[in-house]
Amino acid sequence: MNKDRKLIIAGNWKMNKTVAEALDLVNGLKRELGTVKEVDIVVCPPYTALESVSKAIIDSNLRLGAQNMSAHNVGAFTGEVASVMLKEFSVRYVILGHSERRQHQKESNALIAQKALAVHAAALKPIVCVGETLAEREGGQTEQVLETQIRGSLAGLSHDQMEESVVAYEPIWAIGTGKTASTQQAQDAHAFIRQVLASMFNEGVAKQVRIQYGGSVKPNNARELMSQPDVDGALVGGAALTVRDFADIIKNSI
Ligand code: 13P
Repeated sequence: MNKDRKLIIAGNWKMNKTVAEALDLVNGLKRELGTVKEVDIVVCPPYTALESVSKAIIDSNLRLGAQNMSAHNVGAFTGEVASVMLKEFSVRYVILGHSERRQHQKESNALIAQKALAVHAAALKPIVCVGETLAEREGGQTEQVLETQIRGSLAGLSHDQMEESVVAYEPIWAIGTGKTASTQQAQDAHAFIRQVLASMFNEGVAKQVRIQYGGSVKPNNARELMSQPDVDGALVGGAALTVRDFADIIKNSI
């Protein structure tokens, strides 16, 4: 694929996989994808499987991501996990502001921005999620919603930090529904996000940032989505839970 930005395809396992199941999955992925160099491949297991998966993928081309991180470094924050703890397991990426956390944990753009700064302070890379609901899309508010999320969730990052960040466009109506955004809808939203980044930072920075699409990505739609000029990868939920589907998404994207 002839794009300046390297594709990044990440599996967000959400609240799935015991340690034994996680090991089965990554060992299968290593077998299937061991020689792939064209795509940055990231797996994001639940916290409880990070240590085992980390050991299993040492010396492989798979990289490790976490699904969330505290904005704080240490202290009285029951149930939270700090950057230093993730770094013990060689985590490289952290998903932030997934719509499920925005909805269930009431995460705000301001909190996500604080977390993004903490992720960078630890020399990790955030994958910052944005996306509109069906009602917002049908109400013609998609661009306004995306702009507010992008400006709010990435506020305060330096140019260098922004270039090292990944944005995931996940229309909420496409998550886990089997309804994928059309390639045109995805491309339009990605181009719009890049335009907002250019106005917040500059054109050069906006050109560097990788923007993933997420929402019912499957082996049979990955190629067309990835062929769009502003789609630089995928954040995969359900189809990241089996070796066959996740490996095929990556092979079909190359
Ligand atoms: P699905 O691929 O299951 O639609 O989930 C997408 C997602 O939320 C990834 O973060």
